[in-house]
Amino acid sequence: MFDEIRFNKIDRLPKYVFAAVNEIKMAARRAGEDIIDFSMGNPDGPAPKHIIDKLIEAAQKPKNHGYSASKGIYKLRLAICNWYERRYGVALDPETEAVATMGSKEGYVHLVQAITNPGDVAIVPDPTYPIHSYAFILAGGSVHKMYLKFNENYEVDEEQFFADLQKAFHEAFPKPKYLVVNFPHNPSTATVTPIFYEKLVELAKKERFYIISDIAYADLTYDGYRTPSILAVDGAKDVAVESFTLSKSYNMAGWRVGFVVGNKKLVGALQKIKSWIDYGMFTPIQVAATVALNGPQDCVEEIRQKYEKRRDVLVESFSRAGWKINKPKATMFIWARIPEEFRSMGSLEFSKKLLTEAKVAVSPGIGFGEGGEEYVRIALIENEKRIRQAAKNIKRFLKNYKGEA
Ligand SMILES: Cc1ncc(COP(=O)(O)O)c(C=O)c1O
Repeated sequence: MFDEIRFNKIDRLPKYVFAAVNEIKMAARRAGEDIIDFSMGNPDGPAPKHIIDKLIEAAQKPKNHGYSASKGIYKLRLAICNWYERRYGVALDPETEAVATMGSKEGYVHLVQAITNPGDVAIVPDPTYPIHSYAFILAGGSVHKMYLKFNENYEVDEEQFFADLQKAFHEAFPKPKYLVVNFPHNPSTATVTPIFYEKLVELAKKERFYIISDIAYADLTYDGYRTPSILAVDGAKDVAVESFTLSKSYNMAGWRVGFVVGNKKLVGALQKIKSWIDYGMFTPIQVAATVALNGPQDCVEEIRQKYEKRRDVLVESFSRAGWKINKPKATMFIWARIPEEFRSMGSLEFSKKLLTEAKVAVSPGIGFGEGGEEYVRIALIENEKRIRQAAKNIKRFLKNYKGEA
């Protein structure tokens, strides 16, 4: 009915590439096959006990059951600002420079809705966490692509980044208003140095654009690497906001708690749009999130160590099986270049093959943009025993292939 009524925004969203792999995975499972699933970035453990206890306690109080504050309760915003102060030495005003969000994804999408005029251009490095670019498309803007380049240790080639960024500024029309950065990066795990942000803030002031930085994986770092914050740069608040989430650091993905802090104009725009759209998270979740940020942080260290161990087991066992991969310095992912003999088939076909022949599910790199075509993303969400089993399956798969070739 009503074929002439079309939903242009929805039509601009492509079919989810990951759905193709998912369908095969579900069919295999229905047929009784054991699929080792590294495809989703969904943390596999529970939230720490003291946070759950606080949620239960707060949920028992009748006063916590009404509508909450759309920008987050004051105590949570204060805890967010204190977290920044402790961690990065950055002073923030909980009233005007912080907003609690229903996960960082909600915060990001609504921020972009709030600040994008029709036709506005944003620069988003490719590959990318898909919503980083599609939020602009949904908001009526457009994205100017720039390929992200990094070395074999997944460190961003910063010189190249700035050369490419300058070029993008000169090529794009109209002139881009926004740049999205996400380091440590999903999917590539790429990292940057603090100097990177100093240069970026300087350039933003010169070229007059805002920066949206997403540090969802800030706590998941290895081998002594520490995630820098753009807000630690002097004057960064003039041009940047940054988002963080409790999803990964505290295993609270389903709770939907994150935040955006920094530039008053952008934070204010997000606070305003949220005040029209929602009534805030369930208060007990906000109370428990406050405890997560203010309380003991050994739980974060335990979660970090779990991923580190899995990273080591995966990289070592897959490499021994014949798929050479380097260790990333951060995130809960491995961004693995497809073995040479399979590269020409593309990441989607390779992922399907790996699934049907080795019973291992990964995310095809093309789902994150053209810059991901030679890679697959492996999420560290299966335990060590299952990772070793996957390595065995892959060894057999590679051997069979060589036997055929
Ligand atoms: C880079 C990045 N940002 C944001 C998110 C969303 O996190 P949240 O659960 O806070 O919405 C993810 C989730 O995978 C992510 O990878």
